[in-house]
Amino acid sequence: MITKPKGTYDVVDLDARNYNYIEEVVHTFAKLYNYDFIRTPIFESRELFHRGVGETTDIVTKETYDFQDKKGRDLTLRPEGTAGIVRSYIENKMYGNKELTKLYYFGTMYRYERPQAGRNREFTQFGMEALGSNDPAIDAEVISLPLRIFEALGIKNLKVKINSLGNIEDRKNYGEALKDYLKPHITDLCQDCQERFKKNPLRILDCKVDGEDKVIKNAPRILEYLSEESQERFKKVLNYLDTMDIDYEVDPNIVRGLDYYDHTVFEIVADIKELGASNVLAGGGRYNSLVKNLDGPDVPAMGFACGIERVLFTINTLELKCAEEKSLDVFVLYVNEEEKCHGLYLTQELRLNGFSTEMDYLEKSLKNQFKEADKYKAKYLIILNSEDLKEGLIELKDNLTKEKKKVKEINLIDELDGNM
Ligand code: HAM
Repeated sequence: MITKPKGTYDVVDLDARNYNYIEEVVHTFAKLYNYDFIRTPIFESRELFHRGVGETTDIVTKETYDFQDKKGRDLTLRPEGTAGIVRSYIENKMYGNKELTKLYYFGTMYRYERPQAGRNREFTQFGMEALGSNDPAIDAEVISLPLRIFEALGIKNLKVKINSLGNIEDRKNYGEALKDYLKPHITDLCQDCQERFKKNPLRILDCKVDGEDKVIKNAPRILEYLSEESQERFKKVLNYLDTMDIDYEVDPNIVRGLDYYDHTVFEIVADIKELGASNVLAGGGRYNSLVKNLDGPDVPAMGFACGIERVLFTINTLELKCAEEKSLDVFVLYVNEEEKCHGLYLTQELRLNGFSTEMDYLEKSLKNQFKEADKYKAKYLIILNSEDLKEGLIELKDNLTKEKKKVKEINLIDELDGNM
C-alpha cells in the first residue's frame, strides 16, 4: 500500500470541516480589517529564501526542500509566505498604487523538520502582511488580528508575547554584548549554538536545546540595548495594545527564527499543556529592511503567519465545536426509472435554488434510501411517485416531525422557502 510521505497528513472528516471553517473566519476578518487576497507560487527561486529568510537561519540551512528543474534552475518549495509576498509586491510594483498595501494569503509551506504533533513537513499557513507603513499602530493592528481570529474560533487561554529587536545598530550592539557574555560558556552549549555564536548570536536565545539553560536565562536583555528612538517606538506599540484592550507579556527571549525582523516581534501562544512545543499558534513582526534587501524600494512592513494545523490541534484538544454538523436540506427518494429521471431534474432545480440536496446513486431500496437520508440528517424528504407526478404533485415529508403533505410541484420551492 502506498502511504503518505513522512511529515505530511490528510485532512479528513471533522478536521476537514473545521479547516474550511477556519478559512471562512480568516476571510471574514480579512474583509473586516481591509486586507486583499493574494496567491503566490509554491516554489520560488532558491535565492529568494537565502536573501529573504536569511543564510544563517535553521530554515534555510537545514530545512528547505531544494531542487533543480529540467533546465537546471535552482528552486525551493517555499518554507514560509512572507518572502514570496514581498517578491510579488516588488515585481507587480504594488508600492506604486497606494501607500499602504494590506495582503492576506493561505498556502502550503514546506520545512524538513522532525515531525511531531503540530509540526509537519508540509503544513498550511494563513498570514497577513501590511506593507508601506512604519506606524506602531499597524504593529498593534497586526498583533490583534490572529488574536481576534483565535477568539472567534472559541480558543481561550491565549497569550501575546512581544519583544523588540530594535534597529540594525541596536542589534549589532546587543549582539556584541551577548557574545562577550556567552564567550566563557560557549563550549557548554549545543553544536548548533556554537555555530550561531559565530554567525547570529541572537538565535541562541530561542534555541530549542539550550533555551532553558541558566546561562541563557541570565543573558543580557536586548531591551536594555535599544536606542532611545527604538524604546520610544516599542512603548508606543505597547500603548496601542493597551488602547485595544490586548493583554501582552514582554518576553525578551522572543527573537524569532527568521532573519528579516526588526523592532516589534511577537508570538501568540495558547497556554494549554497538551499542546507542548506546538503551542505557538502564530508569529510575526516588523520587517522594515526586507523589501529593500530584495531589490525593492525602502518600504517598511509588518505581518504574521499562523499554522492552520496547530489551530486544528488546539480545537481538537479543547473539543471546541466550530464547523456546523453535516446536514442536508432535502433528500429525494424514488423507486422506478421514471421517478429517478424526475428526481435527477428536481435535485438539480433544488440545488440551483439554494437547497443542499442529495439522491441515491447506488440503486438502494426505498427502505435504505430512508436510512441514507437520516444518515445525512436531511431536513426534508421528497418521496417521488409516478402517480403523483402525473398530477403534478410531490410528496414532502418533514423528517423531524414526520409530517407528510402533498404539494403542487410548481409551489415546491416556495413551500420549502417558507419552512426553512
Ligand atoms: P514562523 O514563526 O516561522 O513565521 O511560522 C508561523 C507559524 O507557522 C508558526 O507560529 C506555526 O503556527 C506555523 N508553523 C511553522 N512551522 C510549522 C511546522 N513545521 N508545522 C506546522 N506549523 C508550523 C513565519 O513563517 C513568518 N513568515 C511569519 C511572518 C509573516 N512574519 C512577518 N510576516
